[in-house]
Amino acid sequence: MRIIFFAGKGGVGKTSISAATGVRASEMGYKTIIMSLDIAHSLSDIFDLDKDLLDLSKGRPVQINKNLWIQELDIYEEINRNWGEIYRYIATLLNTTGIDEILAEELAILPGMEEISLLLYINSYVKQGKYDLIILDCAPTGESIRFISIPTALEWYMKKIFKLEKRIVGYVRPVARRISDVPMPGDEYFDAIENLFNRLKGVNKILEDPEITSVRLVTNAEKIVLKETQRAFMYFCLYHINIDAIIVNRVYPDYEENEFIRSWKKSQNFYLEKAKEYFDPVPIFTVGMFKGEVLGYSALKRLATQLYGDTDPTVHFFQDEPYRWIKENGDYKLIVKLPFAEKKEIKLHRVSDELIVKLGNVKRHFLLPRQVTGMNKVSARLDGQELHIIFKGEVSDGQ
Ligand SMILES: Nc1ncnc2c1ncn2[C@@H]1O[C@H](COP(=O)(O)OP(=O)(O)OP(=O)(O)O)[C@@H](O)[C@H]1O
Ligand SMILES: [Mg+2]
Repeated sequence: MRIIFFAGKGGVGKTSISAATGVRASEMGYKTIIMSLDIAHSLSDIFDLDKDLLDLSKGRPVQINKNLWIQELDIYEEINRNWGEIYRYIATLLNTTGIDEILAEELAILPGMEEISLLLYINSYVKQGKYDLIILDCAPTGESIRFISIPTALEWYMKKIFKLEKRIVGYVRPVARRISDVPMPGDEYFDAIENLFNRLKGVNKILEDPEITSVRLVTNAEKIVLKETQRAFMYFCLYHINIDAIIVNRVYPDYEENEFIRSWKKSQNFYLEKAKEYFDPVPIFTVGMFKGEVLGYSALKRLATQLYGDTDPTVHFFQDEPYRWIKENGDYKLIVKLPFAEKKEIKLHRVSDELIVKLGNVKRHFLLPRQVTGMNKVSARLDGQELHIIFKGEVSDGQ
């Protein structure tokens, strides 16, 4: 059983690469499903699916070949399936506060509902053992990062807030009914939340298990795109989610004769080198710029061959943690494996929100979490094969 997320900034090629990976894996005999939250439904366009077939599917899996399915979630269907009571209560609540009914219904689709629906599917597919491979074509980075935090946040909410809220509402409801028109949530609302939470149980274990789940970060060899990829890299590391590959898409060919391409290529080469400093030791794969859009089965097969060669796309390209953050007595510690390093070779630099570790001619950049960027007391020591960098819990002025 394997789950692979393709995450990255908008437009970098996540959907194309998810589809290509699905095609390759399914042809190798793995029962594969590619899932997407994309409301534009671009997966079905890539596979050139009949729109009527898609409408009939109502957000359920559609079979592409013997071993391949795609599923593009439809939030309105998901509301019927999973969110009935919760959605109805929120919509009524918004409506009684004076918001127009149609707008209230729209607003009641809370951020996170689609992502939770996706997690419900993942959990049930894994438990039923329905597929060998689940591919997730993620929403652009910011949202996929939030998606990863949902199981942890929800568990915290259920443990700390939910029971309290339920008790308070129990006490307040009879009084509130007499003095206000604002509806209080009924038992069905709480039961629905509890039921949803129970169906999500275990999904965080699945996502954190590096034997099962990996993230592949899709990026382009450009400054701004790489910066966002660095941020995603840091967040996935913080959540201990395995990142097993960085995929740099749309790399131009060597084409000396053309000034335009030569200039792009020069800049891309520079950023490909930078990518090594940012993501080492996670392996970096490249995919060339196609002559046109990546559409249809044979283009996807070509993309898969460029990306994976003859390799099975479900293997773990990297299993270790590139680095770890831990918090001790208010201090933050970054632990980096540096085998064979000697103390005198190591140099540290801080440049705004990055820490750069230089080891001889080799550099590695670490984007710092927001909590750490304001801490200016930094010390380091070598502990066996690990470099420990400690950021003292004193925040500089103005932070
Ligand atoms: N290597 C490539 N060469 C040429 N075109 C490409 C390549 N990869 C992707 N494309 C094209 O770029 C466009 C965006 O790709 P895609 O939809 O896969 O990106 P995405 O990251 O899923 O975007 P979004 O964030 O909007 O979901 C598509 O038209 C696709 O065909
Ligand atoms: Mg997409």
